[in-house]
Amino acid sequence: MVMRTKTKRAKSKAAADKSARKVAKLNMKKPATKTPVRRNAPPRPSGKPWGEAGRALDGVRILDFTHVQSGPTCTQLLAYMGADVIKVERPGIGDVTRDQLRDVKGADSLYFTMLNGSKRSITIDSKHPKGREVLDRLVKACDVLVENFAPGALDRMGLTWEHIHKVNPRMIVASVKGFGPGPYEDCKVYENVAQCAGGSASTTGFRDGPPLVTGAQIGDSGTGLHLALGIVAALFQRNRTGRGQKVLCAMQDGVLNLARVKLRDQQRLRHGPLTEYSQYGEGVAFGLATPRAGNDSGGGQPGWILKCKGWESDPDAYVYFITQAPVWGAICDLIGKPEWKSDPDYATPPARLPRLRKIFDTIEQWTMSKTKFEVMDICNGYDIPVGPILSMQELAEEPSLRATGTVVEVDHPTRGPYLTVGNPIKLSDSPADVRRSPLLGEHTDEVLRVVLRCSDKEISEIKASGALSAPEKKAEAA
Ligand code: COA
Repeated sequence: MVMRTKTKRAKSKAAADKSARKVAKLNMKKPATKTPVRRNAPPRPSGKPWGEAGRALDGVRILDFTHVQSGPTCTQLLAYMGADVIKVERPGIGDVTRDQLRDVKGADSLYFTMLNGSKRSITIDSKHPKGREVLDRLVKACDVLVENFAPGALDRMGLTWEHIHKVNPRMIVASVKGFGPGPYEDCKVYENVAQCAGGSASTTGFRDGPPLVTGAQIGDSGTGLHLALGIVAALFQRNRTGRGQKVLCAMQDGVLNLARVKLRDQQRLRHGPLTEYSQYGEGVAFGLATPRAGNDSGGGQPGWILKCKGWESDPDAYVYFITQAPVWGAICDLIGKPEWKSDPDYATPPARLPRLRKIFDTIEQWTMSKTKFEVMDICNGYDIPVGPILSMQELAEEPSLRATGTVVEVDHPTRGPYLTVGNPIKLSDSPADVRRSPLLGEHTDEVLRVVLRCSDKEISEIKASGALSAPEKKAEAA
C-alpha cells in the first residue's frame, strides 16, 4: 500500500517535473522573438577617425593586362581607391604608351605616367611556357583580371574564360572591346573610332561643318570608367555568390551611353522640330537624324559660348552663358535691356526660342566688355549659370584643384615631377592613393616574392627560363 501510495506520489512528482520541464522548454523557446541573427551582417561601424580605416578597395588584387588608355584609366582609378594593381607588361617593351609622344628623352612618356599611377609593374612573356605558369599562379592570387587587348588576344595567350574560371572560380574577368557582339566585334578600335561609332561625332560640331570629335576622351577614359563600375558591382555580387563573372564594356556602348540625350532627340524628331536647337529659331529645316547642335545647350535652358574681353588675342577668352528662365529678369537688367522683361517677344521662354541668335548677340555685347572671370563673378551674384572657358594652362595652375587632389604633382625617378589627374571621385573615408607610375618591371621580384611567395631559388629559375626578359636577354640566358 505504502509502496503504491509512494508510487502514486512518485508518479505525480514525475508528472509535475515533466510539466515543469515543458514549461521550462517553452520558456527556453521564448527568446525566438529576439532580433534574428543576420547572416553576412556588416561589421559594426568603425570607431577610427574618418580616412584612417583603410581604403575602399583594400584587399582587392588586380591582374592588370591593360594598355594604351581605356583599360589603364580603369585600373588606375581602382588603384587610387586602394586596390593592389599588378600591371603585367611585355618584357623589354611594356605598354606601348611608355614611349609614345615622349617629351623627356629616356623617360616614360606623360601618356604612360598619367594613366598608370599607383600600380606595380611586372614583366612576363605571356607566350613563354614558364611565363604562362607564373600567370596561372597570379590568376590564383588575384581577384580581377582586367584587359583591353584586341579581340581574341587573351584567348591566344591561353587565358580563356574557361581556363581562368577553372584556375580561380572567384576571378572576375573584365574587358574593354571596341564593339560588343555583332558585325564589328572583331575590329580594333581607338578613341576617335569609338566617338564616331557611338553617336558622339555625328552630333558634335556645327551643322554646316563636318562631324567633330571631342577633346574629352569619352571613348577611352569614358569606357574605362564604365568598366570600373562593372568591376566593383561584380565584386559586390561575388560576396553573395562566391564566384566571378565576365564584365564587358564596349567602347561604342560607352560613348552611346554618354550621348544618350542625342538618342532622346532622335526620337523627339518624330513629333516635330527640336525647339531648343538654334536651327529651329533660324528657320532651318530638320533632317531625319539628330543634327549637330554647335554650342546650343542640350536641355531646355538655351545657352551659347560668348566672347569676353581679350578674345581677339586669347583663344580661351570666352564664357558659356545660360539663359535660365528663373533668372531672365536679372539677365535683362544686367545687359541693359530691362524692357525685354515685359516685351511679349522676350518675356517667356517659348517667345524667346525663335530669337535666341539676337538675344545671345546682345548678351555678347555685354560679356565682351568684361573678362570671363568678371562675367562669372557678376553673374554668380544673380544665380545666373555661366562657365568660363578654362584652358589647360589655367587648370594646371588652379589652386583649388590642387587643394582637392584633383590635380596632383608626383615625383618620378627618371622624368622628375609631373602633374597628373587624381581621383575625381572623392570618398570621405577613403583618401585617394595617388603615386607615380612604375618603371618597367620595377616590381617583378617583389611580386614574385611577396604575392607568389617564390623562394630565391625559384625566382632564379624563372628568370633563367627567359620568361621575364626581353628577347635579347633571352639569348644571353640561353
Ligand atoms: N607577353 C607576350 N605578348 C604580349 C604581352 C606579354 N606580356 N602583352 C601583350 N602581348 C601581345 C598580345 O598577345 C598580342 O599578340 P597577338 O595578336 O599575337 O595575339 C599583342 O601583344 C598585342 O595585342 P593587341 O591588343 O592586338 O595590340 P595592338 O597594338 O595591335 O592593338 C588596340 C591596340 C588598342 C587597337 C587593341 O588592343 C584593341 O582594339 N583593344 C580593344 C579596344 C581598346 O581598348 N581600344 C582603346 C585603346 S585606348
